[in-house]
Amino acid sequence: MTMMMMKQRRKLHRVQVEKAPRLGLIRPTALGFQLTAYLHDGQTPEDYEEVLDQLAHAWRVHSVRLVSWKPGRVTLAATLVDPLDTVAGLQVMSDGLLRVQVGLLDNGSRYVIDFKVVPHWLNVGATQSGKSNLANALIVGLAPQPVALVGFDLKGGVEFTPYQARLSALATERAECAGLLADLVGIIRARMALCRQYRVKNIWHPRMPEAVRPMPIVVLVDEMAELFLMADPDHEKEEVAAVATRLLRVAQLGRAFGIYLFVCGQRVGSDLGKGVTALRAQLTGRICHMVNDDETAKMCLGDMDRRAVAAARQISSDRPGTAVVIGSDSRWHHARSVHVLEEQAETAAEQFAELAPSWALLTGGPALPLAGAGELDAAEVEEFTEPDLEDVPV
Ligand SMILES: Nc1ncnc2c1ncn2[C@@H]1O[C@H](COP(=O)(O)OP(=O)(O)O)[C@@H](O)[C@H]1O
Ligand SMILES: [Mg+2]
Repeated sequence: MTMMMMKQRRKLHRVQVEKAPRLGLIRPTALGFQLTAYLHDGQTPEDYEEVLDQLAHAWRVHSVRLVSWKPGRVTLAATLVDPLDTVAGLQVMSDGLLRVQVGLLDNGSRYVIDFKVVPHWLNVGATQSGKSNLANALIVGLAPQPVALVGFDLKGGVEFTPYQARLSALATERAECAGLLADLVGIIRARMALCRQYRVKNIWHPRMPEAVRPMPIVVLVDEMAELFLMADPDHEKEEVAAVATRLLRVAQLGRAFGIYLFVCGQRVGSDLGKGVTALRAQLTGRICHMVNDDETAKMCLGDMDRRAVAAARQISSDRPGTAVVIGSDSRWHHARSVHVLEEQAETAAEQFAELAPSWALLTGGPALPLAGAGELDAAEVEEFTEPDLEDVPV
């Protein structure tokens, strides 16, 4: 009996269920404090990721995030109060070409949409969650820049028509979308030829003379489901397939040729067809506002980080504009956009209307006659990625 107890005790000794972590110095930050925790043998940063919520409660703070790790230690940042309770006082700001500060992240830094770093974005959320607000913020931020804006708005144009003055093109029917997408594919083809001429791989390469560098184009899509859903499959199938293929093409090739996508959707699910998953893979910037279903949150964030999905599901409906965002650092953040009234976006669109190049100019500038708006074939893309061309990531 005693022998057995001793054995048992020895076993218990070996399993250290709770061993207090060794902590480094607590350093104050603007929003709370930061500290280093040293990992015990066998522990990984993952173990800390799992218990951040418990830590926040134990420390009586708003949240605890793992901000970085090195072998053997992790750095944790605690935020005392929620910095996103209000972002009043903050303004949407143009912050360099194709870069807009749209709000605040929970670590106190700016919530930035930077198309040159993350070319394509997926922005989801239930009705009233703040999707359009973010699109408005982009209009305000991009309108003063030398950037062409294009709107796809299949909800009858109610979202983007007010900004038409600053848009180079606006499609409100699927057939129009198909046409505009064909044009965009044509623009890509022309820009490819231009890049080939200068032996560069993208329009931002320093060897591309400033004078011929084409203008970047940001394509805003409101309600992507409308592009894919069919009321009458017999008649719409082909059109939907054309739209899906071209949109995917633009997403795959757009980055190098200065074409960027910002795609909004209320519900993104597999019912939209296979094309959606392929498209999502190209939309590497993710913004998930409050959603009503798990599937949409998973479609938006699940392939990146399952904890981000859980965080997005906790966003409450009384805080529109709040979202879980995955951007350039591939980590997820809570974020909140600045409240931008439609009137503000409308005013910006009108004020900078003359900066909008005409669609005719974009699709067929004098130096760039287009060979029609045909589809790109694989051979052309292959040819383009010849190894002797210099590769400069943008
Ligand atoms: N960041 C924000 N801060 C405060 N209010 C917001 C914010 N974003 C949106 N709202 C408000 O929430 C409501 C819904 O926003 P909206 O962008 O139209 O949502 P959605 O397009 O997802 O339906 C609007 O009344 C808007 O003024
Ligand atoms: Mg909306």
